[in-house]
Amino acid sequence: MRSKFGWWGAALALAMGAAPAEAAKDSLAPTGRWTANERGAARTPPMGWNSWNAFGTRITEDKVVGAAQALVDTGLAKLGYTYVNIDDGWWLKRRAADGRLQVRTAIFPSAATGGPDETSFRPFTDRLHAMGLKAGIYTDAGRYACSQAFDLRSPNLPVGTPEERAVGLYGHVEQDIGLFFRDWNFDYVKVDACGLADYAGKSDLVAQQKYVPLEPLMERGVLNRTDIAGMRALYAQVGDALQRTRPSGDYVFSICAWGQADVRRWGKEVGNLWRTSDDITPSWTRMLHTYDSAAGRPLYAQPYAWNDPDMLEIGLGDFDAGHLVEARSHFSLWAMIDAPLLIGADLANTPRPLIDILANADVIALNQDPAGHQAVRAYSSDDFEILVKTLSTGDKAVLLFNRGLAPMKAILTADHLKMARSAPIALRDLWSKEERSFTGETSFTLAPRETRLFVAKGPRILPGGMYLSEIPGAVNVAVDGVVRPEVDPLVHRMVNPWAGSRGPGERPAYGGYGGAQADAAPYGTNLQVAGRVMGAGIGILAGSRLEVRNTGKWRGFAALVGIDDNSRNTGARVRFLVYGDGKLLAQTKPVAFGQPAVRIDADVANVRLVELVAKPERNEPLAPASVAWGDAAFLDAPPPAKR
Ligand code: GLA
Repeated sequence: MRSKFGWWGAALALAMGAAPAEAAKDSLAPTGRWTANERGAARTPPMGWNSWNAFGTRITEDKVVGAAQALVDTGLAKLGYTYVNIDDGWWLKRRAADGRLQVRTAIFPSAATGGPDETSFRPFTDRLHAMGLKAGIYTDAGRYACSQAFDLRSPNLPVGTPEERAVGLYGHVEQDIGLFFRDWNFDYVKVDACGLADYAGKSDLVAQQKYVPLEPLMERGVLNRTDIAGMRALYAQVGDALQRTRPSGDYVFSICAWGQADVRRWGKEVGNLWRTSDDITPSWTRMLHTYDSAAGRPLYAQPYAWNDPDMLEIGLGDFDAGHLVEARSHFSLWAMIDAPLLIGADLANTPRPLIDILANADVIALNQDPAGHQAVRAYSSDDFEILVKTLSTGDKAVLLFNRGLAPMKAILTADHLKMARSAPIALRDLWSKEERSFTGETSFTLAPRETRLFVAKGPRILPGGMYLSEIPGAVNVAVDGVVRPEVDPLVHRMVNPWAGSRGPGERPAYGGYGGAQADAAPYGTNLQVAGRVMGAGIGILAGSRLEVRNTGKWRGFAALVGIDDNSRNTGARVRFLVYGDGKLLAQTKPVAFGQPAVRIDADVANVRLVELVAKPERNEPLAPASVAWGDAAFLDAPPPAKR
């Protein structure tokens, strides 16, 4: 498959006019309610298997049912891997008479329910359901799918007239979602986006293949030539159709727009998971790339809405049975960042040591922890990282990650864990199951590409309180203040697996730079106000509104607020406001750059939803100020009454 980012993508790009501006900014007025998506069946990240990484479009019913059987036989299904998802390659055509999609019965024989023109996946989904599993299907938001642009030698491309080959959702959302979820009884849908990117009227592809053209809504890597609002609207239409078709909410909606179109900001409002990058491959550095695209965004994920760094490659390439260190690292990382755990291997032929990795119940439990707090980077560098994830028990999962090829002496401190320096902290290793404890700090030697993963128990640095950056799953970034979306340079750039070193190199490609950060400023620097570094807090742009659930029945809220020392805008003045269930509880005077952080606190007893607004005095359309909600925390006592 050729790169969708490289020359091919560039060749397909057409001269679009300026993209319509994104819809007018949301008001900073409090809504009093949680506005992230809560529809669908993804209270915790989805788990299961998908056909793509192992088989591409060369799928067959036998291979898929074989994987399903292996999920049951290995015990993986009981551990939560229940979705069996077919990817690209299942379709034959869209029936001319009424637009009904036809299954390619040569590869899915059980779908031949009524002759060549009357096919149904119902026998297939019935079979999966009878095995105690769930069934997933794949489509595209445009007219045509990715294989129809990038896999032209596939034996499983749709056939017929240009209209019959238009197997994607475009113009058929209600009909196809009804077919998938009502008639065929699927439970999960992945909606790809090639149809919105690669079928321009002027392209050679459209001319050669005689496709019905669709002027692209997006250009990969170029947000200014992408109709972000239009993309969001098309995906939102699918979400609404799903909810109408399955009002019980028993469905999963997977958005596959590869981190494009600023989906890393709005995916959480529309779907249950959204890809944060282009495709993973079974290469270590490609894994780093897709991991980075999601790992820097803990504030954008929460129950029912998950960052998706793509499916697991365990069992393949750099993560096969000869690379158990790499395979354990890949799995530990996905678990910590609340990624969907979708196995991509040919499970019927996967060696036991790899199954054992996927079956580590302690690691799965981190990923499925009901609080849904994605891990936050407590130490960040290109060589080595420490990730910390708050569990619903109040314990912390901590992962030490050697990204590179040199052995690493790693130091873990109580501060990384936001635990007290003077008392013992107990660590339980989730791979070896060994226990140890330390006070203050401890060290480990990590082999190249090795991770160590523990659950840590110890007294908290903030007794009687919780920093908001420790509970990102309770924070919804309703408005992040980004006025003009920018591509994110803080993602590992590997040699492109399809293009090699042809072309100029791998440029940053995914919107989201400048978004809200846990324990860091929006552009990735330390959180700092007037020379004071804040170890904890939320960094965000002015013109923003955060919704925070008072999940712990906390009684107080406090923060040290100000304009960040690395703000691009040093002239703005910003007011900070705290609302409880829609009512103003506290506010500051306008604060200026260089002014020491100001304390703001509020009594939040009996408040369910706290909203934190950073409001600039004037509109700053080009460079909003970076602000800090430094040390922002819920406390178990209300603040002392004001004198
Ligand atoms: C895109 C997606 C992949 C896979 C293929 C199928 O590349 O990102 O996950 O679905 O299309 O063609």
